[in-house]
Amino acid sequence: MTITEFKTACSNIEQEYKTKIAAAADLPAVEELRVAALGRKGALTELLKGLKDFSIEDKKTAGPLGNALKASLTAALDEKTAFFAAKQINDELNKTNLDLTLPAFPVAKGHRHPLSVAMDRMTTILSRLGFEWAEGPWVEDEKHNFDMLNIPKHHPARDAQDTFFADTGMLSMVLRTHTSNVQSRYMEKHQPPIRIMAPGRVFRNDSLDATHSPVFHQIEGLYVDKHVSMADLKQDLTAFMQGLFGNKAQIRFRPSFFPFTEPSAEVDVKCVFCQGKGCPVCKGSGWIEMLGSGVVHPNVLKNCGIDPEVYSGYAFGVGVERLAMMMMNINDIRTFYENDVRVLSQF
Ligand code: DAH
Repeated sequence: MTITEFKTACSNIEQEYKTKIAAAADLPAVEELRVAALGRKGALTELLKGLKDFSIEDKKTAGPLGNALKASLTAALDEKTAFFAAKQINDELNKTNLDLTLPAFPVAKGHRHPLSVAMDRMTTILSRLGFEWAEGPWVEDEKHNFDMLNIPKHHPARDAQDTFFADTGMLSMVLRTHTSNVQSRYMEKHQPPIRIMAPGRVFRNDSLDATHSPVFHQIEGLYVDKHVSMADLKQDLTAFMQGLFGNKAQIRFRPSFFPFTEPSAEVDVKCVFCQGKGCPVCKGSGWIEMLGSGVVHPNVLKNCGIDPEVYSGYAFGVGVERLAMMMMNINDIRTFYENDVRVLSQF
């Protein structure tokens, strides 16, 4: 074979196989052609066998020609293979009526418990008002839960009907009945200025009904500094309630009694359901009782080592469930604890 014959053979093979590849009807046909053109006994291999008789000079021309032919045929075969592979997938999809352009199904995600969401909103607002996070133990001694808070031994709040007593043998311990224990815990360790919020779980020996639960949550607020007064309390609680219920939210103070505050006030929020006109939720009064508060009793400051001649403070304790029920329009406290997914997923 001369080099001219080799060149002619190359272009013949290229033409022949390109025509065949173009006409191939399916994937097996393409694979057959791949073997026939490039396989161990294929046309190209046969042709290249003739190379060994060429002069060095001719080999330099023929070698690259052979390589180019191989590359060109491989490319044509690969392209046809890809075409049939895509066609196969398309045919498959057409058979199933699957529309890949449709948006995906939404994935059901878990989310936070409504009580956690409500608690988060409350603590976020309070932290914007400058309150720092504080915590205290659930199992508490009577000293911090009662004595230091000016709740005397014979006070009805200590009654076994309200308090869960935890018999530890040595100390008389209780499950804290309110987050106010964090007041005494914090003040015995810190001097004013103090501005803390203490969210957490509290326990009372109540039976479960629509508005009571033996376990519930409170957020305690405490602000102690020079010249803190009832006016500060009213301003901060107004800001707190407006943060939760919008700028139109209104509060009112009613005289009350707590051993650890003097004066003490019960705080009502204007009913967000009827805007104060009177409805079943507020039992026609237009107001809903929300929390207890007052000016910290001098005895409490003294018990914690803070000089009541120099400092004064206010304190409040919010029932988280009660507020969350109002925020989320829930009328039964048990909703929070039954964990019925059908209910929870609505929040
Ligand atoms: N500890 C009270 C309770 O559980 C709530 C309370 C009232 C907290 C007045 C306070 C306060 O800090 O000043 O019912």
